[in-house]
Amino acid sequence: MIGALVSGRGSNLQALLDAGLPVVAVASNTRDAPALERARAQGIPTATFSLDCHPDRTERDLVLATWLEEHGVELVVLAGYMHLLTKPFLERFPGRIVNVHPSLLPQFPGAHAIEDALAAGVAETGVTIHLVDEGLDTGPILAQEPVALEPRETLEERIHAVEHRLYPAVVRDLLKVAAP
Ligand code: GRF
Repeated sequence: MIGALVSGRGSNLQALLDAGLPVVAVASNTRDAPALERARAQGIPTATFSLDCHPDRTERDLVLATWLEEHGVELVVLAGYMHLLTKPFLERFPGRIVNVHPSLLPQFPGAHAIEDALAAGVAETGVTIHLVDEGLDTGPILAQEPVALEPRETLEERIHAVEHRLYPAVVRDLLKVAAP
């Protein structure tokens, strides 16, 4: 059973849903995330855990972890989630939190990976799927696929196409390990 964390438009969440993966709960740090609407459209429980409503980030993450556990989540899938997770949250799902990132890590970590690759003028960038630790896009790498930088006008679109194919496949495999 998958719990997805989202902050944005949710195209990766949609790819997981379209692949028929068992997403049972979707949470966000912001109530404005269009991704939440995609989950609601499929009748999946959603919730927002805003930092405004909790004393600090650790407390927020603990409430979030409990909510996910209550929904039977075994594997936490970050799908465009824009907050770092605190250690107490990571300890609730050891080795069971995965992220997709639009570069060949360790190149171009952070929130502007595609722009950074374009600015650096590398020949290729790509997509990385990795387990999540306390760092910014630093956990153990599970899968990578290169994407040529040129033509640059279509780079973003081509990266997202790779994400939408690769992420559901890796998540499907992880689920076999995560599920008891
Ligand atoms: C994706 O490019 C993903 O790699 C990154 O954030 C973006 C999320 O897009 N972590 P979406 O919300 O899934 O459409």
